Amino acid sequence: MSAIDRSDPIILGHVLAEHRELFTRMQTLKKAFADHPRPTDERFAEIRAAVVDLRDHLRTHFEQEEQGGFLEESIARMPRLAAAATAIVRQHPALLAELDALIARMTGDAVSRQGWAEAGRDFEHFAATMWEHERSENTVVQEGYNEDLGLLD
Ligand SMILES: [Fe+2]
Ligand SMILES: [Fe+2]
Repeated sequence: MSAIDRSDPIILGHVLAEHRELFTRMQTLKKAFADHPRPTDERFAEIRAAVVDLRDHLRTHFEQEEQGGFLEESIARMPRLAAAATAIVRQHPALLAELDALIARMTGDAVSRQGWAEAGRDFEHFAATMWEHERSENTVVQEGYNEDLGLLD
């Protein structure tokens, strides 16, 4: 019989589903930023709106993680993970700040060719940092629950 009690698969399933959803959103935006040399003003406004939407979604995601749940549970199960979990949560403000800076850069109706290229680089940097963040989180959860959840592929 599994050591995991009834509520755990719900928490873990939620985390996994959330991370998949975030990954899909980021992939869609990566493709949008690959639109060269630059999008129409209308398309630019759409992409900016999608970045704002991602930012709001991310804030909710981080709040859920911070307000207890899987990271706390992982620490309770395996106290040696506390330092890693704390370090992960501390990355949240910087990740949101990266998106805020990108949104600020995208303010205005029109986009210059250079401004668009810079926004694309900003997003690439954010996506890479965010991806590493989620990987670290998945590692903590997987170790905490001592289960191969197939999160690390
Ligand atoms: Fe997180
Ligand atoms: Fe996360």
